[in-house]
Amino acid sequence: MAINFQEEKRIFTIQTTHSTYQMMADKHGFLLHLYYGKRVEGELDYLLTHYDRGFSGNPYDAGEDRTYSMDTLPQEYPSLGNGDYRNAALVICNHDGSRSCDLRYKSHRIEKGKYGLKGLPAVYAGEEAQTLEIVLEDSVTKVQVVLLYGVLPEEDIITRSVKIINQGEHKIVVEKAASACLDFVNGNYDLLSFYGRHAMERNLQRTSIGHGTQVLGSRRGTSSHQYNPAVIVAEKDTTEDAGSCYGMVFVYSGNFQFEAEQDQFNQTRALMGLQREYFSYPLEQKEELIVPETILAYSGEGLGHLSHLYHRCIREHVCRGAYKNQIRPILVNSWEASYFDFTGETICKLARDAAELGMDMVVMDDGWFGKRDDDNSGLGDWYVNERKLGCTLGEMIEKINAAGVKFGIWIEPEMVSEDSDLYRAHPDWAIKIPGRKPNRSRNQLVLDFSREEVREHIFEQICKILEQGNIEYVKWDMNRSLSDIYSATTDCGKVMYDYVLGLYDFLEKLNQRYPQILIEGCSGGGGRFDAGMMYYTPQIWCSDNTDAMDRIRIQYGTSFFYPASTVGSHVSAVPNHQTGRKTALFTRGTVAMAGTFGYELDLGKLSREEKEEIKLQIQEYKKNAELIQKGTYYRLSNPYQEEQAAWMFVSENQEQALISVVMQEIHGNMPVTYVKLKGLKPDAVYENVESKEKRFGSAWMNAGIPIPVEMEEYRAYRIELQECRRENI
Ligand code: GLA
Repeated sequence: MAINFQEEKRIFTIQTTHSTYQMMADKHGFLLHLYYGKRVEGELDYLLTHYDRGFSGNPYDAGEDRTYSMDTLPQEYPSLGNGDYRNAALVICNHDGSRSCDLRYKSHRIEKGKYGLKGLPAVYAGEEAQTLEIVLEDSVTKVQVVLLYGVLPEEDIITRSVKIINQGEHKIVVEKAASACLDFVNGNYDLLSFYGRHAMERNLQRTSIGHGTQVLGSRRGTSSHQYNPAVIVAEKDTTEDAGSCYGMVFVYSGNFQFEAEQDQFNQTRALMGLQREYFSYPLEQKEELIVPETILAYSGEGLGHLSHLYHRCIREHVCRGAYKNQIRPILVNSWEASYFDFTGETICKLARDAAELGMDMVVMDDGWFGKRDDDNSGLGDWYVNERKLGCTLGEMIEKINAAGVKFGIWIEPEMVSEDSDLYRAHPDWAIKIPGRKPNRSRNQLVLDFSREEVREHIFEQICKILEQGNIEYVKWDMNRSLSDIYSATTDCGKVMYDYVLGLYDFLEKLNQRYPQILIEGCSGGGGRFDAGMMYYTPQIWCSDNTDAMDRIRIQYGTSFFYPASTVGSHVSAVPNHQTGRKTALFTRGTVAMAGTFGYELDLGKLSREEKEEIKLQIQEYKKNAELIQKGTYYRLSNPYQEEQAAWMFVSENQEQALISVVMQEIHGNMPVTYVKLKGLKPDAVYENVESKEKRFGSAWMNAGIPIPVEMEEYRAYRIELQECRRENI
């Protein structure tokens, strides 16, 4: 059993193959956190210490004992108002205006299988998983808090979610709710977080967790370009290959808040949960709120291993649907090829060119519907602009399919332009505050997806489109942040959360109705690149920035949690449309091959040589697609600190590997760079498929490969290794 309950001391122990998580419902019924880290055996309540600390008060039940304080003890789910002055996981405003929730152990259940969450994405697993449910209750208000733990023992994954149920008679308001709290009684930690902006997402920042709270999150309605809802708490000396670290990945696509704090006794607390601002969630009698799941993982072998745990978990236990294990189509997207300026013939021509080069699919991006020749109008009017296309959508798709190419389409269902028939008919469907002029962004407003009738209307429109022909892919975009939070029907404090649940409801229905359609997520590139979306869209356009050199960093940051199979990545034209930089086609291909591969340029403008090279790229990607989408991904360098960017994929049986290196800098009389490989079998011999050079895995990994010194900016190298027989070496 992965979950054990020791009755006498009421100690809960969760064991995964390499980690242990332990907590205890103590004599007063408080649920204290004992340990999370490398696997250990036995009871760890000896770690709790008790001293009389000034200004750290004592619960009444402790009687004369001035050494028992909620302010100093490690807690599993701390709430405001009980004498713990650190950051709280839970804040509840009671009907009398008081803010207190005194949670004590009531009961628990251990079950086979992993719990699911109604209306929310969550890790799923088979019988190998287990669930621990601990019910805590405030005996005065009868507020119940159900802590849910999902355990995937072999994956070294523990998930946490929380249900807050109002079992009392009076209305309460949940003002803050986290799904995971990690209290560390000792140690010094760094926080690794991933900040960014539109077209430059998920840059790694490593800071020390000190006194005072570090907070990051989003109040944009999406998980956002600015901070990814995933962080790592690492011991100071943790590196890529060694040391202890903990991941906290929020399975949610809306407002979130992460907090890390070192307290007055140098203990560390990390919290992951819903964003506090714009949130005050009323619960009437018997109503409940589910706090989205946080996926926890511990690695005692550095950051690289932590990433492997998350890659596996997200690939196998979050992503779903027909495309979960299928090799994804190589597509060409019309956006950077022609933006809004196209006709049906432009798309058909792109498809014919794509067919000639061996691509699988053409995607018609923004501009095909309503009145939409630029980004100022038309959103919400989901009917095909047949005048612009010069034919019906169905006719166009037939021509594309006849050319041997699949067809995909772009949509942005959550939005409305003021200049649209939909807005003219239903101005109150847009999120804005009556009597105020709303913030515009890209000249568009956000539809109130917390309202079912709004979603239903859009759903019907979208279905009508999807039924006009053989559509095999949808790019679901979302191109602004929410603001002016108000709803004609939904309580203001609920809108942000209910909006995201509405989005999930829509996506779930879409997936159920069209299980064969591959949906790629997008929000101005990677503005909603999170595990929540991955439950519905197994790949997400990683960034609107297609510049190979910038993409190296964006994809490096992304790789800490998200597997390559989720990372939409395309080759685009030079000079690059976002940076003006010129890089070789080979370099662009190398970088884009670290994800779900495609192109985003006018194929008609390519030279004959470029076309030949692209044909080879496509053949090469197809050959390695299985390895890239399902293999183990290793970071071989830190592109922020080293001249070379290097990464590799290794097949599960460790017989095949693909190494990619891009020189980020070039200097006179350039010193030689050596790249050390990872993940090979040390005693096996591997052959460089191209040069036929054979070496032991131990040599490739410990002595490395010298990268040639060549006079070319941003030169890239791809090396394929194949295990071969040990003789002749
Ligand atoms: C967003 C997307 C782009 C493209 C445009 C279309 O910016 O990220 O890829 O689809 O919208 O308007």
